Order: sequence, then structure tokens, then C-alpha cells
Amino acid sequence: MRIEFVPADLHAGATAAVAVLAHEAAALSPEARVIDEATGGALARAIAGGRFTGAKGQILDLVAPHGLEAARVVLVGVDGVGAVEPEAVEAAAAHAFQAVKASGVTELVLKLGADAETAARAAFGVKLAAYRFDKYRTTEKAEKKPSVTVVKVAAADPVKAAKVYEGLNALADAILFSRDLVSEPANILHPEEFAARAKSLESLGLEVEILGEAEMAKLGMGSLLGVGQGSVRESQLVIMKWNGAADKSAQPIAFVGKGVTFDTGGISIKPADGMEDMKWDMGGAAAVTGVMHALAGRKARVNAIGVLGLVENMPDGNAQRPGDVVTSMSGQTIEVINTDAEGRLVLADALWYTQERFKPKFMIDLATLTGAIIISLGHDYAGLFSNNDGLSEKLLAAGKAERENLWRMPLPAAYEKQIESPIADMKNIGGRPAGSITAGLFLQKFVNGVPWAHLDIAAVAWRKPSTDPTVPDGAVGFGVRLLNRLVADAYEG
Ligand code: BES
Ligand code: MN
Ligand code: ZN
Repeated sequence: MRIEFVPADLHAGATAAVAVLAHEAAALSPEARVIDEATGGALARAIAGGRFTGAKGQILDLVAPHGLEAARVVLVGVDGVGAVEPEAVEAAAAHAFQAVKASGVTELVLKLGADAETAARAAFGVKLAAYRFDKYRTTEKAEKKPSVTVVKVAAADPVKAAKVYEGLNALADAILFSRDLVSEPANILHPEEFAARAKSLESLGLEVEILGEAEMAKLGMGSLLGVGQGSVRESQLVIMKWNGAADKSAQPIAFVGKGVTFDTGGISIKPADGMEDMKWDMGGAAAVTGVMHALAGRKARVNAIGVLGLVENMPDGNAQRPGDVVTSMSGQTIEVINTDAEGRLVLADALWYTQERFKPKFMIDLATLTGAIIISLGHDYAGLFSNNDGLSEKLLAAGKAERENLWRMPLPAAYEKQIESPIADMKNIGGRPAGSITAGLFLQKFVNGVPWAHLDIAAVAWRKPSTDPTVPDGAVGFGVRLLNRLVADAYEG
């Protein structure tokens, strides 16, 4: 699907749908009024004869409107009374696209507001909404596929709108790259393949280093390596660097991702039902890859490091056993009570490595870490755990701005009792109470006092059904928008 910016008075042809906005009490936007007049009041009549109120996300679909050449008119509700926030335009554009994508029209013309910022946000919303992971579908009938092949976004100054869109387009590309990683099945996207895809981003100007098992063994990463030892796939540690700050030696910021390309649970094996979901247990690493893609794509003025801990957690004759004790790179020992609590074992070494090698301003890890966070917060919030109030505030604000909401959870020292081991420095599970918090407390032992935040994204990395028109069912790419915004608003200078 192609996206173009066109003049505001563009005449939509016979194979097109035109989308316009309506506010509270079904008040028509200026563009909608033009259409209402051209059709002899057809929009007003359709509103009068139905329940359309202009509420956010509501759609009124007018087919074969008399007086217009266009095949359809789509009236999209956005609430409010007048000026529309760019964010609302993004959602409205996505709603319009969802409404007509398989209707048979080949073209969608968006007339949602003519200024450059509004037009650019509409294009962004549509690009995200149109995501499909269909590379493995070889027999889908043409009539089931989306019919819309081009989206024309009307703007007073199309050239200016296209210019404003450049940054958003780079962000969208990064989000879609991240969604592709999350969507790929685990037979294709194993640790080495993931590392290769990260490496391919060198074309954007990133520097990408890959460590294999021998190198990690030399570094003493017994905690990460223990998780991958039952897999025939080699574990990988990927280090991505973006050096965009004016001062090339300025202290970097760092992102660390859990990349379990498949989580069977290992010897503490998971139940069969729903286990296929564990192909997306690398959603944290996908988010980190995505944010590095976005920073490079828009040439962000910041020095940033992305570290991915990539492993496959399999049961096998060589797999680690419950009760095994491993020694992490930090020197701390861990009794592995449950091999299914593997994400924290991977992050323990990835976090330690990151702070030791890069001495970052802060580290933020993202991980599909616990089922318990789904119980705590449901699917509309990711859990935020942090040793730093300033960083937390900035993350909460960035999340709100990008509709990737976070909710801060506590890290009470008293709960560390739950992960004490009789034979090692800690154990890797803390029992059922506060399962996401004890996971956070475990990670905190590997940050060495560096300002740090942990985002537990187990509930938000994959949405089915999705409640956001810019996110089709499945991979969200959660975290890319959020972290890109954090950098843009607080760390670019
Ligand atoms: N990858 C899972 C967490 C998860 C669950 C992610 C559901 C997405 C959806 C993680 O590795 C895991 O298995 N966690 C265990 C920890 C337990 C053994 C302490 C869990 O949450 O059950
Ligand atoms: Mn697990
Ligand atoms: Zn896992």
C-alpha cells in the first residue's frame, strides 16, 4: 500500500472512498460539510436516520453517494467540538482505513484537516493500521485481501506535509520492523536469525556487534547461557550502537531486551494450550531493535546502546535442571528452581554486561517477563519497575503521550526474602505472591546501582483482539513509540 499527499481540493474518483470527520452531536467538519452540500444533504439525512453521534471511532458509511463520483463516503467520529488533536487524527485515519480496507475500493482519500501536521499524523495512523503479516499465506483468495492499494492524504501544502511526515514515517518503519520480528514463527526466527536481522540495520548507520556462546562463556555469562543450553540453536548477545550526539563520546543511554525466541519453559515445561504464544517471548528484544531502528532512521541526536539477550528455552538431555546453580557474569550465584523463569536469567547477564561495558546514563529493560503482570494490570498497561523517580516520571509521560501506558509498581526490599536461596545468593522464583515484583527485585540485583527501569510487557506485546485501530490483531511493537518519545522529549540535545 502506497501513501501520497495530495492537494486539499483533490477530486476523488469512482474507485475511491473519501473519509471526513464529524464531532460531538454529529457536527460536520468543514470537509464533511462540502460533501454534504455536494450530495444534496445525504450526510445529514444518513445521520438523522441512524445512531451516528460523532463519538470517537464511530463510522457512518455512505455508499454510492448521489452528486459525487466517489464510490463511498466514510464519516468518522472524533468527539470534541472543533480543532482535533493530532493523536485523534491518527486514530480517525486508522478507523477510516479499517472501515474500507476490504470494501472493494482501491483508493482511500483522507480529508481530515489540511494543515501539514494533521495530514502527516493521518498518514502515520494509516501506515500502522495497514500492517499485515501475510508472507506465509499463499492461498488467500483475492477477494479476502485488502482492496485499498493507495491512500491519498489531502493537505493544503502537500510538499510541507510530506516533509513533516518524514520523521513519523521513520518511526512507523521501525514499529513495523519490530512487529515483523514479533510475528515471525520460532522455527524461522531463532537467535542467530534475529541477530542477523539486527545486523541488517547497519544499513541505517547503526553499528552492530554479535557475541556467540564462546565469547559469552569467556565473559562468565553462566546465567544467560544456562537458559540456552538445551537448544540446538546458539545463544547470541547483540550490541547495537547509535552515535548521533554532537559529542561522540557523551555518556550513552541504554536499552536491554529479553529475546527468548521460543519459551517452552524448559524442563519446567509449560502446558500445551497456548504455548504457541511463546514465539513472541522476544517482544522486549524486538522493542529494543525497533527503537534503535527509529533513532537511526530519524538521525536522533543521542548516543544510544541496544543490547539483546537472544536464547531459545528448550527441554533436552542437555537442558538445565530445576535445582541447578549457575554463576552470573556479576559473580552472584543463582539457584534455578524453575527453568520457566528464564527471562530474568537472560537479563541478569545482559544488564550486568551493559552497565559494566558502557557505563550508561540509565538502562531500561523490556521483557515479556511474567504472567503475573497480566493478572495485576490487565492488557492496557505495562508494568514499570524502577530504582529512579526521575526516569520513571519521564517514562510515564512518554507512555501517556504515545498511548503506550505504563503503571508504576513498587520494589519493596522486604519482598527480597521471597527470592533467598539456602544454597546460592538467590533463587530465580519467589512464589505466587507479587510474582512480577519479585522478578523486578531479582533484576535489580544486576543493575549495580545504575538508574534503571524495567518494563514488563507480557500483557501488551501481543493483542488479540486489539482495541486500537492503529494496531491490527497480533504483534503491537510495544515500546518503540514510547522509547522513541522518551529520547525525543528528554535526552536529545
Ligand atoms: N515468558 C513467560 C511470561 C509470559 C507469560 C509472557 C504469558 C507472556 C504471556 C516467562 O518466561 C514465564 O514463563 N514466567 C513464569 C514465571 C514463573 C515460573 C515464576 C510465569 O509468569 O508463569
Ligand atoms: Mn518462561
Ligand atoms: Zn519467557
